[in-house]
Amino acid sequence: MKKIGILTGGGDCPGLNAVIRAVVKRSITTYALEVLGIREGWKGLVWGNVEPLTNYSVTGILHRGGTIIGTSRTNPFKSNEDLQRTLANIKRFGVDAIIAVGGEDTLGVAHRLFKEYGLPIVGVPKTIDNDLQGTDYTFGFDTAVHIATEAIDRIHTTAESHHRIMVIEVMGRHTGWIATFSGLAGGADCILIPEKPMSIEEIAEIIKKRQSSGKTFSIIVVAEGFAPKGLDVKYGKEKTDDFGHIRLGGIGNLVGQKLEELTNIETRVTILGHIQRGGTPTAYDRVLATRFGVKAVDMIQSKEFGKMASLQGNQIVPVSLEEITRGRKNVNMELYEIAEVFFG
Ligand code: F6P
Repeated sequence: MKKIGILTGGGDCPGLNAVIRAVVKRSITTYALEVLGIREGWKGLVWGNVEPLTNYSVTGILHRGGTIIGTSRTNPFKSNEDLQRTLANIKRFGVDAIIAVGGEDTLGVAHRLFKEYGLPIVGVPKTIDNDLQGTDYTFGFDTAVHIATEAIDRIHTTAESHHRIMVIEVMGRHTGWIATFSGLAGGADCILIPEKPMSIEEIAEIIKKRQSSGKTFSIIVVAEGFAPKGLDVKYGKEKTDDFGHIRLGGIGNLVGQKLEELTNIETRVTILGHIQRGGTPTAYDRVLATRFGVKAVDMIQSKEFGKMASLQGNQIVPVSLEEITRGRKNVNMELYEIAEVFFG
C-alpha cells in the first residue's frame, strides 16, 4: 500500500475538512502513505481531476466548513463511459485504495465499486440528515441541529412579541432527525416529520388548544420532507439529480398558509435552508469526523475493504457498506414520543 485517494461526495457538510485532515495526517505521519485528493467527489475520477495532499495542505482547516477538495452529486454509474473512465483513472493515478466520504449515494457507489469490481474502498458516513443505516450518528448532524436550535430560540422572540404562529422549516431529506432534535431542544409546540403523518386540521387543533390555555404564540418545526395527511403536495422543483432525488424545500409555506386559514392567527414562515449546512462544525462533529478519518486509514492498513467506519454507542467500528443499501434510517419514535409530551 503506497498511495490512497480521498473524495467527498454529495452535499457539503460541517466536518468534511476535519475528516480530510485526519486522513492526511494519519496516512502520512503514521503509515508514510501518499494521499491524493480526488476533486469534487466521483466527478474527479470520471474526469481525472486530482491533487496531492500534504500535511501542509490540511493546516488550518479543522474548523472550516465545506470541503477543500470540493464535492458534487456525480454518479459514475450513470453511463458505461463514465464508469470506464472512473476505472481507468483509478489505475492511471496508481491509487491503491480509496476513502469515500459521503451519504447514501456516495457510499452506495462505493459499495457497488467494491462488490462488482473488487475495488479496495473504505467509507466514512457523512450527512446533516443523519439518515444512514449502520451508524448511530453521522458527522454534520450535530452542527445542523445546533444551528436550527439557535434559529428556533431567536424566532421565539417574534412569536412571543407578536402573538404569532411561527413555522420553521428545517432540512433532513425524507427523515425528521433534524426537526425532532432541534424541535425538542428548542421547545417546539409541534414537530412535523415525514415518519409521523398528520393532517393540517390536527395541527390546527393543537394550536387552538394551546391558545385556549392562555398561550398566545406557537412554534411549529417542520421537516422539509413532511407532507400533510390528505393534501396532494407537489414538491415544486421536480428536477432530479444524478441519483434520482427530487429537490425538497418549501413545505413550510403551505403549512403556514393553511394554519393561518384554519386558526385565524397571524403566521410567518422561516425556511432555514443551507444555513444549516454552512460554517464551522461543532466540537462534537470535529471530534467524530476526526475519529472516523483516523479509523478509515487504519481500516485500509488492515485491508478491511467494502466497509465504513461507523459509530456504535461510543465506539468507532467497521461495518459493511451493505448496510447503506438497507434503506434510510428513520427517526427513533421513542424520541419523537418524548417531544410529543411538550406539544400544545
Ligand atoms: O442531504 C443534505 C441536504 O442538505 C438535505 O437535507 C437537503 O434536502 C439537500 O441536501 C439539499 O441539497 P442541495 O444542496 O443540492 O440543494
